[in-house]
Amino acid sequence: MALASPFTPGDLPRVLVGRARERQRLGDLLARVVTFGELAGPPVVLHAPRGLGKTSLLRDTEDRARELGFVTAWVACAKGSPMLTEVAGSVRRALIDAEVLDDRSTKRVLDTISLEFAIFGVGLSTEFGRDKTDGEQPVAAITGLERVLHEAAASVRVRGGAGLLLLVDELHAAPYAEVAILLNALQNLAGRRADNPLAVMAAGLPSTPEMIMRAATFGERSEFISIERFDEADARRVLHEPAHEVGVGWREDALVAGLEIADGNPYLLQLVGDSTWQEAAPVKGDILERDDLEAGEGRMRGQLAAMCRARWDSASELEQSFLSAMADYEQEIVPRDHIATTMGRESRAISVPRARLIDRGVIEAAGRGRLRFTLPGMGAWIRDYQSG
Ligand SMILES: Nc1ncnc2c1ncn2[C@@H]1O[C@H](COP(=O)(O)OP(=O)(O)O)[C@@H](O)[C@H]1O
Ligand SMILES: [Mg+2]
Repeated sequence: MALASPFTPGDLPRVLVGRARERQRLGDLLARVVTFGELAGPPVVLHAPRGLGKTSLLRDTEDRARELGFVTAWVACAKGSPMLTEVAGSVRRALIDAEVLDDRSTKRVLDTISLEFAIFGVGLSTEFGRDKTDGEQPVAAITGLERVLHEAAASVRVRGGAGLLLLVDELHAAPYAEVAILLNALQNLAGRRADNPLAVMAAGLPSTPEMIMRAATFGERSEFISIERFDEADARRVLHEPAHEVGVGWREDALVAGLEIADGNPYLLQLVGDSTWQEAAPVKGDILERDDLEAGEGRMRGQLAAMCRARWDSASELEQSFLSAMADYEQEIVPRDHIATTMGRESRAISVPRARLIDRGVIEAAGRGRLRFTLPGMGAWIRDYQSG
């Protein structure tokens, strides 16, 4: 019988490859909470375009934290949805699921959270729903959040656990005013570091660091970690290891062709692996061949095209002309001057669409004055789209 595909495009990887440095750093922060029972320091923020492995790394950290005795609360932000009520709700559920609380303290913590819930729920939609100017701070919400995080973290520790790990994914999509509240609450908790066995780790698009620095003056103290494409050795492992684990190999030329298509992008590597696998329908002992890869390319290109299309459609007219000018260069790395000239503008005059596209993770800097698409193959897609 053919084996089920071990590749996971769009899903948590079965084998988490690489990221040794990042895992080490995140592990050190967890260890600080475990050893000293204190706050892990300022929030950590993983940032990168989509598909680079931020969520996978956060989930991996969550797994490791659980093994160390943490109670973990996970929040995925979404455009137009409040974040803090989610945080309170997720912390509450985590405490209940972990059963770390005895009846009395459970009741006290849950009461606090319910109370704060009400404050967030009512307050944020009215008083705090809009962007705040500096200096004006929604004190009630900040103190409320501090209490929720403090009570939860301390009660985990009292019951013999390590502490609380709060994970916030897609932070770029959170309401700006709520990000400010979160940062202020964490800053205040840092003042009583020894009472707060807590770590906060977040992930978001490349716009996230700037958002955090704008949201609070001390936001810049957050620890920003950029998640990069895989180098060739790790990219190889993403294709090789999941297959190898179930007794299936890759022919070298097929593997090399796959590496070239994906260009170090973790999502595309998983997609290449999966489409090749679907075509080959291998059994144990089989080898994935170049023919299989080529036969799977249609499926793969279809998926890639849908992603390019979504990015293109979400761009403004000016951004689209910026993207066409990039595509027009026909090489991976595009000099900024070429874009300006093609658009018929001064180099300075293109910095707004450039910044917006970088923030949303559509393009990225590739050395000084040079740019590239974050999705390999997007340039070719745009050329096809415009000629067809
Ligand atoms: N370290 C890794 N090893 C193997 N595959 C990975 C790794 N990180 C991410 N992936 C794969 O890449 C894709 C995108 O990962 P994800 O964590 O969702 O990225 P992001 O959150 O940055 O958009 C998924 O298909 C996932 O399986
Ligand atoms: Mg993600």
